[in-house]
Amino acid sequence: KSNVKILAIESSCDETAAAVVEDGRKVLSNIISSQIDLHTIYGGVVPEIASRKHIENINFVIKDALKEANVTFDDIDAIAVTYGPGLVGALLVGVGEAKALAYGLNKPLIGVHHIKGHVLANLIEHEELEPPFVCLIVSGGHTEIAIVKDYNDFEIVATTRDDAAGEAFDKVARSVGLGYPGGPKIDKAAKLGNPHAIEFPKARVNDSKYDFSFSGVKSAVLNYQNKANMTGEKINVNDLVASFQRAVVEVLVEHTIEVAKDYNIKNVAMAGGVASNTALRSLMEEKCSEEGLKLHFPSPIYCTDNAAMIGVAAYFEYLNENFKDLALNAVPNLEL
Ligand code: KG4
Ligand code: ZN
Repeated sequence: KSNVKILAIESSCDETAAAVVEDGRKVLSNIISSQIDLHTIYGGVVPEIASRKHIENINFVIKDALKEANVTFDDIDAIAVTYGPGLVGALLVGVGEAKALAYGLNKPLIGVHHIKGHVLANLIEHEELEPPFVCLIVSGGHTEIAIVKDYNDFEIVATTRDDAAGEAFDKVARSVGLGYPGGPKIDKAAKLGNPHAIEFPKARVNDSKYDFSFSGVKSAVLNYQNKANMTGEKINVNDLVASFQRAVVEVLVEHTIEVAKDYNIKNVAMAGGVASNTALRSLMEEKCSEEGLKLHFPSPIYCTDNAAMIGVAAYFEYLNENFKDLALNAVPNLEL
């Protein structure tokens, strides 16, 4: 069957999103209702508020997604939803909605792993990209390197021992008073700073070739600030965050390239919110071209949470007829 249209729903964190995706690569609509302003005053996502807002927004977001795609429920072949990982109350809103729609409309129900969605978001704008490829996944909750052997077959070869990359960006941004979400703020401020002003420890661990650890560099930034506060030395925030960003980005790039070389895979991709970081993009681009690797990354709108990526991943489950029944539940720590 061609022209398979999937209505996808994403509510794992603080974006309520719905999209219609055709044949796994063509995005007919992509609606995102962000709650960022609501959570900013608390300096981070408040799970209870996120769930309540999802309930308020989800039906409007779905309606808009159908309208923008110029389709009705009759045209939809399957309903897909993120069922983990994420905040349980937030996930449950999407899962409950998807189950109700699948039951009421008598359509197949597809459960999607959020991170698979992030990775396969690369397919939307890169028609030629096919497995195998190496993907660096860097979001607020995840830092992993995956080898995508097939559309449904991922092997994780690196992970973080402590904070996720985005989490480190957010924490450092908060400590220097840049606010939430910190990643984009640091990205911007770092452009005005000197990345070589301060030498921070690299986000590396000793006993693993590919794994990451960000708590060391994060603590080093906090210690640097405490020391400056005590001595009355003035901190140049732009230099500080540029140096922090360099320490993080260099290790992300080094490990990803190492995996691609060790596994002899020529295609490299990036996914997740931090993949829109401009310093990461340019260093990865530079190193990939030095090594003869081809780099892919999604536009920023497909890097941060969205439902189009869920519709892409769902298509490959659809082809395998991997459907869920109405017992589908949210799984906050769903494994890949
Ligand atoms: O993928 P995402 O939207 O949500 C999760 O699934 O976690 O990623 C959000 C994370 C946040 O930590 C945010 O600070 C970070 O991505 N982020 C960035 C940039 N844009 C978003 N980090 C660094 N540079 C950016 N330009
Ligand atoms: Zn995400």
